[in-house]
Amino acid sequence: MASRWNSRVSIIFLFCFPELLLSAVVTLDSLEIYTTHEWLTSTPTVYFKCNEEKKTVLPDVKKAHAVYHFKGEESFQPLTNFTSKKCKRCGFYEKDRIKFDDVFDEWEFCPSDFTSPNGIYIHSKDKEFNATFLCDECVKKVDNLDGDSHHHNEGHGVQWYIVIIVVSIVGSILLMMGVFVAYKYWLKRKRQQEQARFLKLFEEEDDIEDDLGLGPLSDSI
Ligand SMILES: *[C@@H]1O[C@H](CO)[C@@H](O)[C@H](O)[C@H]1NC(C)=O
Ligand SMILES: *[C@@H]1O[C@H](CO)[C@@H](O)[C@H](O)[C@H]1NC(C)=O
Repeated sequence: MASRWNSRVSIIFLFCFPELLLSAVVTLDSLEIYTTHEWLTSTPTVYFKCNEEKKTVLPDVKKAHAVYHFKGEESFQPLTNFTSKKCKRCGFYEKDRIKFDDVFDEWEFCPSDFTSPNGIYIHSKDKEFNATFLCDECVKKVDNLDGDSHHHNEGHGVQWYIVIIVVSIVGSILLMMGVFVAYKYWLKRKRQQEQARFLKLFEEEDDIEDDLGLGPLSDSI
């Protein structure tokens, strides 16, 4: 009940202030690289980048096999934003002075990846790196989406409910009309039968009078 109320409030909130909830900020929580691709210089320059966004250089990440933890408030944070359910193609790279930059990994980064309730998503690649990302709003957004689908279902339920009510009302009106018409017909038939019996009774009386010679014509004979 409370969660439904909450989702309703947040839907109203989303309706009133869409721009506030439509930007889900993603921060880097921790990173461990297992290798450096640069063998001429000892310290690598690692950066994160999503398609057509700026490079985010991670100045602290210098050594392989060391776990770097971040608070989320560093100067290079946040890493990126989600403005819709759509995924982004993002990756970790290493600057290369001679050739093209080396790629740790490049993948489809989606708001729906953040499935754990604390908003953490772990992405790792064998022999390359292990990264944990944080996105609180992504989890809330998934909740909102669930709420939306709930409402959708509820809407269908209400429609079916209305259809059933209307059909049963119309059905009972038709049934009542049918019973009324049948009753009227039955009354009419009964009246006709009574009339017929009444007439028959008169005819029979006439016949009896005729037989006894008491009819109006017997006097004149
Ligand atoms: C995230 O979104 C906010 C507001 O839309 C914007 O100011 C900020 O530059 C964005 N950050 C990134 C990393 O895209
Ligand atoms: C990646 O890092 C997280 C957090 O530090 C840890 O819980 C997880 O076990 C690591 N995964 C691998 C494959 O090392």
